[in-house]
Amino acid sequence: MPTKVNRQWCLASRPVGLIEPSNFTWNEVPIPTPGDGELLIRNIYLSLDPASWGWMQKWISYVPALAIGDVMHGITLGVVEQSRHAKFHPGDLVYGMLGWQEFAVTNGKGLMKLPKRTSIPLPAYVSVFGLTGLTAYFGLLDIGKPKVGETLVVSAAAGAVGSIVGQIGKVKGCHVVGTAGTDEKCQWLTEELGFDAAINYKTESLHDSLSTHCPNGIDIYFENVGGALFETVLTLINLRARIVLCGLISQYKANGLGPSLASIIVNRARIEGFIASDYFHRAEEAIIDLQKWITEGHIQYKVDIIEGLENAHTAIGKLFDGSNKGKLMVKVSEEPL
Ligand SMILES: NC(=O)c1ccc[n+]([C@@H]2O[C@H](COP(=O)([O-])OP(=O)(O)OC[C@H]3O[C@@H](n4cnc5c(N)ncnc54)[C@H](OP(=O)(O)O)[C@@H]3O)[C@@H](O)[C@H]2O)c1
Repeated sequence: MPTKVNRQWCLASRPVGLIEPSNFTWNEVPIPTPGDGELLIRNIYLSLDPASWGWMQKWISYVPALAIGDVMHGITLGVVEQSRHAKFHPGDLVYGMLGWQEFAVTNGKGLMKLPKRTSIPLPAYVSVFGLTGLTAYFGLLDIGKPKVGETLVVSAAAGAVGSIVGQIGKVKGCHVVGTAGTDEKCQWLTEELGFDAAINYKTESLHDSLSTHCPNGIDIYFENVGGALFETVLTLINLRARIVLCGLISQYKANGLGPSLASIIVNRARIEGFIASDYFHRAEEAIIDLQKWITEGHIQYKVDIIEGLENAHTAIGKLFDGSNKGKLMVKVSEEPL
């Protein structure tokens, strides 16, 4: 329930290893008032993202570096409560980088206005129609450029981004192989999502299983994990393979570890990183396709909703121990009626 104060999680310290609850500090401050050209938003859902680890470091990045004591960066879906901005009105639903807090004042820069309420549940806009879906869609289609009959390997395949990447790969006629951390996740990938094969990277030999399930080599690797898995995939890529460098979650606890890139040279492969927000101006294109594929039964998605902003600092750990069951988010306050 909304309160009379603005409740926030702020950066207490930068993670040295994995993100710990002690890296955050709880703050209660007055609810801010919008000035001319600004609006006040009440956050409803807060997306929890693996990239948070990088956002908490002191690096120059695609988001401004946080100082100790700043409100933690986070993408939210919220409702406009007050507006002194010509383009936004009370009741509008918006999506943007508004932080781990209940209320935010912004000048609207970078904020996306969502369509009027339909039968689509709001958490879908934080998942398949939000950062997650756009990452999967543009990463695979614009950078991976899948062709019918090619072999696509996806890591963290049962996760929010990975599960959508693999399903789009099937829509595009690829042979799709995923890696995930439990047999249950692997079973979901093959039995419910239509992946051709899934490999439990914790119990199977990566090289043997990838060789078995990718008899024609690997044409596209959608990389979410990094480390040993990346190293192994590089030994199996084909000529002119494309590597979509989306994320490196296994490395979000240490600096500097990377695979040997000799195979990129030998195979004249292409490796390209990207940030989903570069594609936000094309969001509608992705949403139209994703909505169609969901309606036609080609794409399923899961959300994992944690109740209460006060639990965000512990909930984020689920991304790193693999216990999240779908796109992880926190319900910060009630949806408007
Ligand atoms: N470039 C962009 O703009 C962009 C945007 C969004 C997300 N991303 C990246 O996409 C990736 C997935 O993000 P998401 O939000 O969809 O999260 P997610 O996949 O729903 O959750 C993270 C999953 O990663 C796996 N994982 C955690 N630690 C691991 C480790 N040490 N080794 C191997 N797997 C590990 C876990 O599944 P298992 O059970 O399989 O281990 C966990 O469930 C991340 O790397 C993230 O940084 C990039």
